[in-house]
Amino acid sequence: MLIRTHDDGFSHSMTSEITSAGVYQRRRELMQLMASGVAGTALASWASRDALAQAARPGKLAALPATKATISGGATMEKVTDYKDASTYNNFYEFGTDKDDPARTAHTLRTKPWSVEIEGMVKKPARYQLEDLIKLSTQEERIYRMRCVEGWSMVIPWVGYSMSKLIEKVEPLGSAKYVEFVSLADPKTMPYVGSAVLAWPYVEGLRMDEAMNPLTLLSFGMYGEVLPNQNGAPVRLVVPWKYGFKNGKSIVKIRFTDREPKTAWNKAAANEYGFYSNVNPNVDHPRWSQATERRIGEDGLFAKKRKTLMFNGYEAQVGQLYAGMDLKKNY
Ligand code: MTE
Repeated sequence: MLIRTHDDGFSHSMTSEITSAGVYQRRRELMQLMASGVAGTALASWASRDALAQAARPGKLAALPATKATISGGATMEKVTDYKDASTYNNFYEFGTDKDDPARTAHTLRTKPWSVEIEGMVKKPARYQLEDLIKLSTQEERIYRMRCVEGWSMVIPWVGYSMSKLIEKVEPLGSAKYVEFVSLADPKTMPYVGSAVLAWPYVEGLRMDEAMNPLTLLSFGMYGEVLPNQNGAPVRLVVPWKYGFKNGKSIVKIRFTDREPKTAWNKAAANEYGFYSNVNPNVDHPRWSQATERRIGEDGLFAKKRKTLMFNGYEAQVGQLYAGMDLKKNY
């Protein structure tokens, strides 16, 4: 996403988006390899990722038991990404713009007490304490393919329940057409809130029928444990057929509305990040192709890229939501 400067000395202007994280990562790997010799660098980089993942997890995060997925598309059989990668290669701009920033800095996030406000066009507006929200429906494990707009992907076992369960509980009015998700924006605990990199709070949105699709997950955990802070604790959204930035983290407000929400990335660069942001190999980002992706964990300089699938492989489940729409216009 938008990045200005990097510790490798490359600088990018405000609107020169991540050259694509893949390209950037390779360039960075190349620089490192040239600078210090292959083996040493590779070991050092693994060691520090390991240390970060350890510090963020074991023994510290509570188990979050879940039943198996009950819906079609809810458990891809592809190899699950290592926890270490999923918890140390993150986008969470409230905590910094480099991929390893959130794992290093998100420990300042306070997730207790936590509540989520439900407001706008609903019959039953409410403020749910996290403990009550977690108990609202049965937790399921959903193993989803995730595709970031920057050209990389992962397979993550999330724990949560379909967003539709909560929506049914609060009874939206007939006039509600969209759902807006607002993340916490606390400058005291989130070092980048207040920086010019995005307009805060981070806001995302879905059309009502997208939010009601059973694949759309309100998630409280991953890999059988509660979410680590860097992955959006204590509650986040997971919408597997859309680019990763549609998945708002650390959500504090869910608002029902009749207007298309103004989302953080759309505000930052409307020509690059549309409201829909469905994964689509046929519609390029203005500055790079979306036809292929790099699976995190299969990296290395010469790793073969994978073909990106329409709707990230979830076309059978969600394709009909967009019947008749021009997906080049509604990107
Ligand atoms: N939510 C908030 N609040 N802030 C962010 O910067 N980044 C988004 C999304 N949700 C982001 C966010 C982007 S760009 C991606 S790719 C995913 O979170 C990354 O989620 P992950 O770190 O769990 O893989």
